[in-house]
Amino acid sequence: MTSQLLLDARKYEELMEKRIEKETRPGFHLSARVGWMNDPNGFSFYNGKYHLFYQYHPYDSHWGPMHWGHAVSRDLLHWRYLPVALAPDSDYDRGGCFSGSAIEMPDGKHLLLYTGVSKEIQPDGNMRDVQMQCIAIGDGVDYEKYTGNPVIDKTSLPENGSKFDFRDPKIWQKADGSYRFVAGNSTKEGDGQILLYRSKDGLQWQYEKVLAENRGRFGKMWECPDFFVLDGKGVLIVSPTDMLPQGFEYYNGNGTLCLIGTYDEETDTFTEEQNQAIDYGIDFYAPQTVLAPDGRRIMTGWMQNWETSSLHSKQEPWFGQMSLPRELSIKNGRLFQNPIRELDKLHGEKVEYENVTFTDMICLDGIKGRKVDMELSIRPGDEQKIYQKFALRFAQDDTYQTSIGFSPYDSILKIDRKFSGSRRAIIHQRDTLVRNEGGCLKLRIILDCYSVEVFVNGGEHVLSATFYTDLSADGISFYADGMVAMDIVKYDLN
Ligand code: FRU
Repeated sequence: MTSQLLLDARKYEELMEKRIEKETRPGFHLSARVGWMNDPNGFSFYNGKYHLFYQYHPYDSHWGPMHWGHAVSRDLLHWRYLPVALAPDSDYDRGGCFSGSAIEMPDGKHLLLYTGVSKEIQPDGNMRDVQMQCIAIGDGVDYEKYTGNPVIDKTSLPENGSKFDFRDPKIWQKADGSYRFVAGNSTKEGDGQILLYRSKDGLQWQYEKVLAENRGRFGKMWECPDFFVLDGKGVLIVSPTDMLPQGFEYYNGNGTLCLIGTYDEETDTFTEEQNQAIDYGIDFYAPQTVLAPDGRRIMTGWMQNWETSSLHSKQEPWFGQMSLPRELSIKNGRLFQNPIRELDKLHGEKVEYENVTFTDMICLDGIKGRKVDMELSIRPGDEQKIYQKFALRFAQDDTYQTSIGFSPYDSILKIDRKFSGSRRAIIHQRDTLVRNEGGCLKLRIILDCYSVEVFVNGGEHVLSATFYTDLSADGISFYADGMVAMDIVKYDLN
């Protein structure tokens, strides 16, 4: 039965969406239909389309009681909104329908597995939110909450697992037809761990084991896990809270990371070998992947950052967008990410230059815009002497600009949105250590109105950031200290 809460939300979003002008949204990144969006949820391929749900508070551009927003796409770039899928309308999820995942069941139904949050009286008499895993089953538009909810609660936690931090189940089906999900949890001391559950039918679940443990290394609670095998490696993605910085790899606050190792399918044993950050920019969190029908592992994340996500006015009609979906691969034990190849279909006018040399600021005819796919190949213009600095500036006018700067001597790539028009004391810059040989660097830069995503050296590093410069600032310029030689291919994105 559809609840009044869900009906109201559906009516509200349909009405309010009409009041939002298309020009105020990104062109091909999914943004909140109305109100607030955080984590991607239920990223799946179902009935011929990609479904992407999201943490959603339609009534406000700030976080609030969590619903699941819903959109579908055939190419991961043109999204069509569907009615809100879940509302916090049941005893076990009154505190919110938190993050989760989706899968197609053998009977053709679409199963959503999510975290229900609800209040519970504690022995000291205080009320506190506890978290449990719940199911809703539907046809790709309408979902019915499962009568057996919650399917996993505090009674199926390991001894040291906290019922207060137990969320974000990611489900998959194994080759033998059985199901698994991983969920984020913290120990009673507040340290992150990833729990593994198993099921024969996707409905009745049992605790299996701790799949991975933080052991105090990366932040505290591990949110939004995802687990899959890619190019022969087991890959565990998590988004830790409260991180401390580690060199140029990890930064303070909420972050993203992946653990890469071996996975023994028989015993469900994951053995870590390496770890790395997923995104080295400013705005990226809680990524989730889908296995595309053609075998690609595709990931999208919330292109935002918890620390800066409550500074905007309540009057903003929408807040929050997803990153460009990225194709993943593992090379030499490292995660590589590249824009989905579907993006090429949006290519409009092409402008190309070869071997442009410069020693100061230059602009190039035809190189401008705020919806752009641009590939740069940079090298020293003088073989005897490597340049000191290269910079690319975009979303630029006489007053504003955002930039990517590179200094080959320390091999640091810096993203800087200090001059984007921001009036807040937030993080505006981030430095990343990248690989460069003799000052050679390859960058692929995707601009979509209010965001930039930089793919470095074929996807070895990625940096994402949002900025809110007026769209009239559409200039792009290049700067060199010393002599830089550059090839550039730029497409407008339509
Ligand atoms: C991550 C997160 C999840 C939770 C959701 C709530 O950004 O905190 O752990 O399910 O957001 O909206």
